[in-house]
Amino acid sequence: PTPALNIFPSAPIAPVSPYIFSGFLEHLGRCIYGGILPATRTTFPHTSRRPCPADKFVETPRALLTPEGFRADVLEVLRDELRVPLVRWPGGNFVSSYNWKDGVGPREERKRRPELAWGGEESNLFGTDEFIAWCRVAKIEPYIILNMGTGTLEDALHWIEYCNGTGDTHYANLRRKNTGRDEPHNVKYWGLGNEVWGEWQVGQQSASEYGTKARQWAHAIRLVDPFVILVGCGETGLNQWDGVVLDALVDKVDMHSIHLYTGFGPRDRTETKKEYGRSVYGPDAAEYSIEVCKGLINKARFARNVSKPIKIAFDEYGVWDETVGTPENGLEQFYTLADALAMASWLNVLVRQADVVNIACIAQSVNVISPLVTSPTGLFRQTIYWPLFLFSRYMRGGTSLRISLTSPTYSGETLPRWISTIKGAPKDLDASAVLHIDAVTGARSLRIAVVNRSDTEAYEVPIRVAFEEDVAWDVEAHELWHEDVRARNGWGNEDEVSVKTRKEEWDGRWTFRAHSFTLLVLGSS
Ligand code: AHR
Repeated sequence: PTPALNIFPSAPIAPVSPYIFSGFLEHLGRCIYGGILPATRTTFPHTSRRPCPADKFVETPRALLTPEGFRADVLEVLRDELRVPLVRWPGGNFVSSYNWKDGVGPREERKRRPELAWGGEESNLFGTDEFIAWCRVAKIEPYIILNMGTGTLEDALHWIEYCNGTGDTHYANLRRKNTGRDEPHNVKYWGLGNEVWGEWQVGQQSASEYGTKARQWAHAIRLVDPFVILVGCGETGLNQWDGVVLDALVDKVDMHSIHLYTGFGPRDRTETKKEYGRSVYGPDAAEYSIEVCKGLINKARFARNVSKPIKIAFDEYGVWDETVGTPENGLEQFYTLADALAMASWLNVLVRQADVVNIACIAQSVNVISPLVTSPTGLFRQTIYWPLFLFSRYMRGGTSLRISLTSPTYSGETLPRWISTIKGAPKDLDASAVLHIDAVTGARSLRIAVVNRSDTEAYEVPIRVAFEEDVAWDVEAHELWHEDVRARNGWGNEDEVSVKTRKEEWDGRWTFRAHSFTLLVLGSS
């Protein structure tokens, strides 16, 4: 089919939730120690049981830290560039054997523990109070996941009392003592466990066991704090687990969490078209997950007569090649342009599904399968940073619009393989659109994100916007492109893959280069 994009401003889907630009910090590799805090000889490398040899250890200079002792560079990128609104912590798999009580109080008395999810040891130097302090400086809303592996309901209730208690009770007073301030941490978002379905999880449970337990936990948690927002633990949105757990929990939670990673792109020059296709078309699976999950949510709501809409927290998503980012290297992986195109498609999915996706957390925010990589003295932005930056800047705060898109399709292998069988052949072009109305002037601006996933074909696309009247537009185009889909950024070539911006008069069509991501900002001239 000939490419064409029609956008319908009179058919809004829903406002784009700012929380789809959220992040995730796990005690894993160099995420916390080396990413949020400077590494010390005993916290880096995280997976090693031995301190880093003194002659190999490079300290982060004090000048690079905030007055609270956090890495200023990472904090500034997350707060000021990506404008991350919410961060999930402390895991991930890590949380399923995490005792929050080990991580509060005088730091010199904190217990060092074996870390069961990823190996190595946990120093507990970064705990609840440090996380909240970091969130305050970063202007980020905390989202804490409860330990439903080794943790008991009592531990969880104590944690919530510690964070949110305002009375004269033991854990509220302990927080006051530890932080030296009266005000509570006010943690609104709480997750009922992480990937409890996974066989790698400490404390794996069956869906019905988890459903029963999570119902009891939700009930008790709301007795401690009736104002929390509770997120139930789902799988991918598509699985039997999701259906069973939603049926059990739909009247007890506010959101259902799902996780999915796509990946396995071309890594080096011996790799081919096949790996490219598997990587860039992968996020189509996420859209199917969300659509099915939405159906499961509504089926469960119907059965329990729940009028409240239950939203999806896609609280781990991203591009992860598990053969490259492994536990041994702290899940560190260098991303290519192909991965960045996949990331742009991910974000298109999240914008198109604005009516049901309320939270999405890129996994993860620094060093671990992340857009940001640090050294003791600096950082660089990976290719996948750029779609996040552009979406966060231009697609936030608007309303997602219905579109119709015709496009040539892709016939090669996808990952997961079922995409083409179940959803049909993926389109080369992938798009989303958002309408912004300036609160003060009322000026309208349309933002259109288009990924051309074909690795060979440029497409000239007529773009029709069905406004009631003709509008003369100017266009500002931000394009992420490189001649080589395997190109990546790194130390010494930090800007190999980055965005170029140009302004033009709008003539109702745009040519999208092969393997490119373009974000068009149309404003009336
Ligand atoms: O983000 C890395 C890991 O992926 C998380 O710890 C876990 O929840 C998921 O399997």
